[in-house]
Amino acid sequence: MSNIGLYDDKYKNFEWNDSAKELELHENEAKNIGYLCSDRICEKGFGQKLALIWEGFKGEVRRYTYDDIRLHSNAFAHYFTGLGLKPGDRICLFMDKIPELYISFLGVLKMGGIVQPLFSAFGEEALLTRIDDAKTSAILTTKKHAGKVRRILDKLPELKHIIIVDAEGELPGKNEKTYSMEKAPKVEHVDIYPVEPETPSVLHYTSGTTGKPKGALHVHSSIIAQYITAKWVLDLMLDDIYWCTADPGWVTGTSYGIIGPWSNGVTQAVYDIGFSTEKWYAFIERNRVTVWYSAPTAIRLLMKEGVEAVNKYDLSSLRHLISVGEPLNAEAVIWSEKAFGKPFHDSYWQTETGSIVITNFPGLKIKAGSMGKAFPGITATVVNQSTFEPITETGMVGLIALKPGWPSMFRTYWHNKEVYENKFKKGWYLCGDRASIDNEGYFWFVGRDDDVINTAGHLVGPFEIESALLEHQAVAESAAVGKPDPINMEVVKAFVALKPGFSPSSDLELDIINFIRKKLSPLAMPQEIEFVPSLPKTRSGKIMRRLLRAKEWGQEIGDTSTLEDE
Ligand code: WT7
Repeated sequence: MSNIGLYDDKYKNFEWNDSAKELELHENEAKNIGYLCSDRICEKGFGQKLALIWEGFKGEVRRYTYDDIRLHSNAFAHYFTGLGLKPGDRICLFMDKIPELYISFLGVLKMGGIVQPLFSAFGEEALLTRIDDAKTSAILTTKKHAGKVRRILDKLPELKHIIIVDAEGELPGKNEKTYSMEKAPKVEHVDIYPVEPETPSVLHYTSGTTGKPKGALHVHSSIIAQYITAKWVLDLMLDDIYWCTADPGWVTGTSYGIIGPWSNGVTQAVYDIGFSTEKWYAFIERNRVTVWYSAPTAIRLLMKEGVEAVNKYDLSSLRHLISVGEPLNAEAVIWSEKAFGKPFHDSYWQTETGSIVITNFPGLKIKAGSMGKAFPGITATVVNQSTFEPITETGMVGLIALKPGWPSMFRTYWHNKEVYENKFKKGWYLCGDRASIDNEGYFWFVGRDDDVINTAGHLVGPFEIESALLEHQAVAESAAVGKPDPINMEVVKAFVALKPGFSPSSDLELDIINFIRKKLSPLAMPQEIEFVPSLPKTRSGKIMRRLLRAKEWGQEIGDTSTLEDE
């Protein structure tokens, strides 16, 4: 089954190699992502063009041209090499959305390192798990977040360098160094690590139902897919001002917050601030943002403030709107047409896919509530959950499955080949989501096929939450599930059965909440704890989270024996 031909002429007969050619890569050749996102753009004559317009939460503004990001990323690469860091070493970026985060990302890649971005809101336990798993050699962070690193340092013998990027002139602590991007001498030339297509580039951690978070490993040739999807789905053009609201701690913030826009030579605006309707609109107005990539949770929050809030600002610069991370409700699409005069276009993908795979891209008629169709070059279908054969019947729900082989697909889970291989059945990569396909080939998202909780577009694995709960002295067993929430789609709810000698009380609930707060990121924090005498289990003793979840969603549970040992 091929989707090509259903679309506009320019998509017909598309092959990934066409994208590689646009990047001037010969067959089976790769170039360093760091080079393609900075040096190459300068070579094209855009050295003086703005690459980054950055605004901080206090109103500070910093601007960087493509030549600036080239020189600063060279300097980072030079610095890392000088520290003795080697190609293949994992270098973690643990910062808020500051310019150093975006530019050091290219610096790590230029010296051949593997970038490990981690969301700066992560608590120390979340950080420890991921740094320990990746055996990370160095971490770049800021004074604000350094405390979390210091508290876990003793458990991380491999972590040799802690580099604080905003503590210039101050006395560093144990294993710590300071590096000021602004003050460091510019480096005109650095030996950019000569990569192969399969040279590892980025390691993004993501959560599953069982076990610890897994590191999805990407390679330098991923840019072939990120470049062309940014161009065709985000519709980026040379005179755009592009704003991606995602944090580079997550894959949207790297694939489409760094690699996509910069490999296209586009100016991007970054706002280091949390959600705020008024501030966001003012940011769009001030910077004349033309292309905006955001998420359903944010759109739902904007909807609450109504069209009145929109009308206070001049948002006429907006040309194209795209959404990702969770199902984009039909109401949100209709509302955005009313509010901005344009619909939000849905895009579906994952940490593992590395780039957008199913989407409403420009030129395709939008069906509000549908995710759209497979991107040219991607073969997507839904398969039967037991036979893994493609479902031919229109409208039947199955598992979203992709034919492996697109350039930005993850290459493995870090040191976890078994779990990686389990994601493939009968030659299909299974995304872990359920959907149906209508008679015109549009995909309609139904839900996840596992117990992972999607809160405000962030995946949270029940395992981490349950493990944290189990460490509390009163907790005998626990289960974390998603419960409905009007804004965040889902929030975490925990069920707890207590050990003998403990009885439920609001004091105990508070104590448990306080106990796990420092272990988990704010996203993963349960909004509610329900004490239960025991948890429903399958015959083999597996907790039936699905049953608990169904109750929260008011769904019919029906015959529970069908849930046994799924
Ligand atoms: C999971 C991936 C790369 C996107 C950022 C999150 C859900 C993603 C959609 C969408 C419905 C969506 C899926 C997917 N998801 N986009 N347009 N409609 N659900 O990356 O953390 O790896 O999460 O987010 O469940 O598998 P991620």
